[in-house]
Amino acid sequence: MNKMWACKSVELLRAEVDGNERGLKRSLGVWNLIALGIGCIIGAGIFVLSGHAAANNAGPAVVLSFIAGAIVCVFAGLCYAELASSVPVAGSAYTYAYASLGQFIAWIIGWDLILEYALGATTVAIGWSGYVVSFLKNLGIYIPAVLTQGPWSFNAATGEWISTGNIVNLPAVLIVLVTSWLLAIGTRESAQVNAVIVAVKLAVVLLFIALGWSAVDHANWITAANPEGSFVPPEDSFGNFGWGGVLTGAGVVFFAYIGFDAVSCAAQEAKNPQRDMPRGIIGSLLICSVLYALVAYVLTGLVPYDKLNVPDPIAIAIDTLGMNWLAPLVKLGAIAGLTTVVLVLLLAQARIFYSMSRDGMLPTMFSDVHQRFRTPFKTTLITGVLVALLAGLMPMGLVGELVSIGTLFAFVIVCLGVLALRKTRPDMHRPFRTPLIWFIAPAGALSAFGLMLGLPLDTWIRLGVWMAIGIVVYFVYSARRPTPL
Ligand code: ALA
Repeated sequence: MNKMWACKSVELLRAEVDGNERGLKRSLGVWNLIALGIGCIIGAGIFVLSGHAAANNAGPAVVLSFIAGAIVCVFAGLCYAELASSVPVAGSAYTYAYASLGQFIAWIIGWDLILEYALGATTVAIGWSGYVVSFLKNLGIYIPAVLTQGPWSFNAATGEWISTGNIVNLPAVLIVLVTSWLLAIGTRESAQVNAVIVAVKLAVVLLFIALGWSAVDHANWITAANPEGSFVPPEDSFGNFGWGGVLTGAGVVFFAYIGFDAVSCAAQEAKNPQRDMPRGIIGSLLICSVLYALVAYVLTGLVPYDKLNVPDPIAIAIDTLGMNWLAPLVKLGAIAGLTTVVLVLLLAQARIFYSMSRDGMLPTMFSDVHQRFRTPFKTTLITGVLVALLAGLMPMGLVGELVSIGTLFAFVIVCLGVLALRKTRPDMHRPFRTPLIWFIAPAGALSAFGLMLGLPLDTWIRLGVWMAIGIVVYFVYSARRPTPL
């Protein structure tokens, strides 16, 4: 029982890393870390969900939804930054929970993070497949539906599984296997590929803002339901337009910010984690927040928001500019964007398993480091195969909101964890200190919890079921294993 609540000392964590000569290779500088963050952040959220949130929840005020989502993430990001600089060990929120709130909570959060990273990678891989299939169709290449969709779809409204008659989502399987292989053979190589692809997606996003800006017309804010063209359209029912809609929209677009925390999973591979972790986390988050607000403004200024409930809202906006050459470029940008999201989420998942295994909570095989590549080779490939299976067979509708609720739950724990460590270890060396901690950490925990409350009941039930399975696994397996302290 004592073991269950025991915290792992920060000194021990640091010593383990310093003494581990043959451990993960320190190859990432500050720009690699910022690029990793951007690589993981800009993806399906802005390329797909921005349109849904504008059309169903917030109208042009989806700009405010993005800003609200950014504020919640900046609160949490500042807490992550303090912990990542003080406890620069692979494993992120899991490791921080172990250092601050004890083994059991650490297990809970490690189990929960599977929802964020493995299921996040699954969701985005399915989205990637959709974009690639549509892009190839534009080029006159048709892949039969039996090979581009899983065998079941899921009706969220009725909770029914429906057989689709298809076999497997092959493109989704392939992207997961290829990125896993890249991650397995080298973190530095993966970071380089990531940096190039991030440059492509940033260029596309900036091009959209630059070319669309001068064509923004506030007359596009006028719709049948918003005849006066107000920036915040009149409320239909709570959550549909009005200020309630702005808040619900923030919950929807929150998905767009998921990923900045993945930077902290690579702490053990950073050359100078004390200095660079906070820069990587906060830097990538701020850059993406500004870009998101600008994209949302241009998007709703080009197309009336009631026409944006489509899988490719940015492409619809581009059509209004009459620049035919831009549309395929944006699709390519979206494909590039989603590729790096899958890559970094898989990197993060493997690091969480690695740390949990080093702490004795998973089989030792998960913390084996490849002699030559200096990566957690086996974990990366096992994670890749599991995620590829899910991506090949699962319907997208089932998983998206589960990813958001899992991530928000991790944010709550990290914000509480940073406070707990300030209390229990006030003297600990903290290269980065979260400013106004007694305001920011509670505000981060409460606002993340507030966004969780906005998610549907069935998502809460799924979270509960997943956590219940995790607790059983903990008591039956992990808690009984010897802890290598
Ligand atoms: N933030 C990532 C995306 O939007 C998960 O795809």
